[in-house]
Amino acid sequence: MPNQSSRERYTAVAQTFHWVIAALIVVQFVLANLEGDLPIGAHKLALLARHKSFGMTVLMLAILRLLWRLKNPPPPLPSGMSALERTLARATHIAFYVLLFAMPLTGWMMSSAKNYSVSWFGFFTWPNLIGKNEGAFELLRTTHHVLSYILFAIAVLHVLAALKHHFWNKDGVLLRMLPFTKEKRS
Ligand code: HEM
Ligand code: HEM
Repeated sequence: MPNQSSRERYTAVAQTFHWVIAALIVVQFVLANLEGDLPIGAHKLALLARHKSFGMTVLMLAILRLLWRLKNPPPPLPSGMSALERTLARATHIAFYVLLFAMPLTGWMMSSAKNYSVSWFGFFTWPNLIGKNEGAFELLRTTHHVLSYILFAIAVLHVLAALKHHFWNKDGVLLRMLPFTKEKRS
């Protein structure tokens, strides 16, 4: 039987998944933006290779995280939240989980469609998911691009919501996802 505070807080495993994946998403956007401005060359390819490796790491962690979460439901939302806020919070979390799969998979398929290899930090090479296909490449590239905007927009909303909970509602929602913090604030 979990005690009161463990039912109100995310566990250390959930927090670790959350913050490691969040940090990797930031790394992905930084690498993509650095690479996007460069002409074709060794430096651009090295940044892209790193983008692919970190992206495939997100995919592996997302699989583990989802499997783990299916067995370990999150703590309930604070009772003070309206039905609309609850729906928005759930929709955001579901959208995140979908994107944590969709972003790497569209990236991987895009590379496969060009027959460009996807290595994992030089340790091994992932197999191609589809055959060489220029039309599919363009479609997947656009999809990857559009999804990255959607991910960015949801992340901004998510952070604003977390800050609103912390500074406006003062309901401890942010603290329960933060390591090294204790009970909820009110
Ligand atoms: C969570 C994972 C990922 C995120 C957040 C992400 C995000 C991004 C972003 C923001 C861009 C720049 C989009 C643009 O301006 O066109 C980009 C480009 C790109 N991504 Fe990813 N990506 C992820 C995973 C992957 C993976 C796993 C691969 C391949 C295995 C990949 C391959 C690429 C490629 C090749 C480009 C350049 C596309 C072009 O030529 O315009 N990405 N990604
Ligand atoms: C792009 C990066 C991020 C992603 C992909 C992400 C994703 C998620 C997901 C999927 C959940 C739901 C966890 C679950 O129930 O399984 C969650 C919860 C949460 N996230 Fe993030 N997050 C990101 C960045 C952040 C940042 C920067 C903050 C803080 C400012 C934050 C604060 C929170 C909080 C407080 C919760 C718990 C919400 C609740 O209690 O229901 N997240 N996040």
